[in-house]
Amino acid sequence: MSVTPRIADRVGQLPGYPLAKIPQRKRELLAAGVDVIDLGAGDDNVAPPDIAVRALADALRDPAMSRYGFQLGLPAFRQAVSRYHERRFGQRFDPMTEVLPLLGSKEGIAHFALATCDPGDVAIVPEPGYQCYIGGAVGALAEPHIYPLTPRTDFLVELGELPEDVLRRTRLAFLNYPNNPTAAVAPRDYLERTVAVCREHGIALAYDNPYVEITYDGYRAPSIFEIEGAREVALEFHSVSKSFTLTGWRLGWAVGSAALVTALTKIKSYYDTGPFLAVQAAGAAVLDRAEETVAPVVARYRGRRDAAVAALKQAGFDVAVPRATLYLWVPLPRGVRSAAFATRAMEEEGVIVLGGSAFGASADGFFRIALTVNEARLEEAAARLGKVLARS
Ligand SMILES: Cc1ncc(COP(=O)(O)O)c(C=O)c1O
Repeated sequence: MSVTPRIADRVGQLPGYPLAKIPQRKRELLAAGVDVIDLGAGDDNVAPPDIAVRALADALRDPAMSRYGFQLGLPAFRQAVSRYHERRFGQRFDPMTEVLPLLGSKEGIAHFALATCDPGDVAIVPEPGYQCYIGGAVGALAEPHIYPLTPRTDFLVELGELPEDVLRRTRLAFLNYPNNPTAAVAPRDYLERTVAVCREHGIALAYDNPYVEITYDGYRAPSIFEIEGAREVALEFHSVSKSFTLTGWRLGWAVGSAALVTALTKIKSYYDTGPFLAVQAAGAAVLDRAEETVAPVVARYRGRRDAAVAALKQAGFDVAVPRATLYLWVPLPRGVRSAAFATRAMEEEGVIVLGGSAFGASADGFFRIALTVNEARLEEAAARLGKVLARS
C-alpha cells in the first residue's frame, strides 16, 4: 500500500502566478511563425551594463568569490549599498548591521513575512501587486488582507481607512511606490500618514522600492527613510534588477533598523546562503557608479514610454503618462474584461500583455504593458492592440 504525500493547504491558497503559463504559449506561437511582441514580464531586452560584466569577470578569477557568501556576504557590497543610500537619499546606514544582501529583492520581501507575522496575524496586501506579497503572507500562515488599488485613492493603500479590528491584528504592510503595475507614485504627505499609522499600531512596513531610479520629467522618488520615524517601522527593499537591467543576476538588498535586519537575517540563514559573492562584487561596482549607469536606462524607458503612450492613444486607449516605472497601466472600456482582452491580444495579434485580473479580481478593467521592446515594436504592438479593442 502506498500513501500519497499530502500537499499543504497553503499551496492551494496561493493564487495562480500571472506569468506562469505565458512562456510556454509564447514558445508555441513563435514555433508556429507568429511575430510575437512580448510586453509581459518587466525584463528589458538589452545587454547588462559593461561595468557589471567586467566586475563579475574579474571577481570570477578570485577563488574566494566561489565560496559560500552566507548572510554576511561581501562586505564591499554592504559598504557600496551604504554609500549609495547616503549619496542618493541622504540617509546613513551601518553596512554591517543595517544592510542585508538578498538573492533579488523578491526573496527578501517574501521572507520578511516570516520575520514579522505569526500564524493568524494580518498582512496588508495591495491588489494588484507583486506576487511575493501574498506569497510571503500565505507562507507565514498570516491572513492576507487584500486592499484594492483603484483610481479612487490614486492607487494608494490608505491604511487609515482600514477597520480598527483589522489594524489591531495587522503586523505587516507591503507597499510599493513607484508601483508595479499601476505606475502610481506616492506623495510625501501620503508616506507621512502611512508611517504614522504603522507607528501607532506597531505595523512593520515592507517598503518595496525597486523602481526608485526609473523616474521621469523631473520626478524623484524618495526612500521611505526620508520620512521621519520610518526607521522605527520600515525595512526598505532594493534591487539591481530594474535600475541596472540585471534581472537574472539575482541581487538586491534590504536596509533599515538593526532589529528588523537581524530578524530577517536569522530567518534567511535557514533558507539560503546568500547571493553569489562575485555577483555582489559586480553589484558594488555598479552601485558606486549608480547615477551614470542608470541614466541611459531611464532615457531608454522614457523614449519608449512616450512612443507607447502616443501610439496607444492613437489606437483608442485612454492611457495616462506615468512619472515612474517601466509599466503602463491601461484602462479598458467598461464591459471589456481584461483576461479576455489579454488572451485575444496574444492569440489573435501575438501581443503579450498582462490582463489586470491576473493580479486579482479587483484589478480587472486594466491591462499592463512593460516597456521592454524598442519604440517601433511598441508602436506596432499598440496598433495591434487597437485592433483587438475595436473587435471587443
Ligand atoms: C514591485 C516589485 N518588487 C520586487 C520585484 C523583484 O525584483 P527582484 O528581481 O529584485 O527580485 C519586482 C520585479 O518585478 C517588482 O515588480
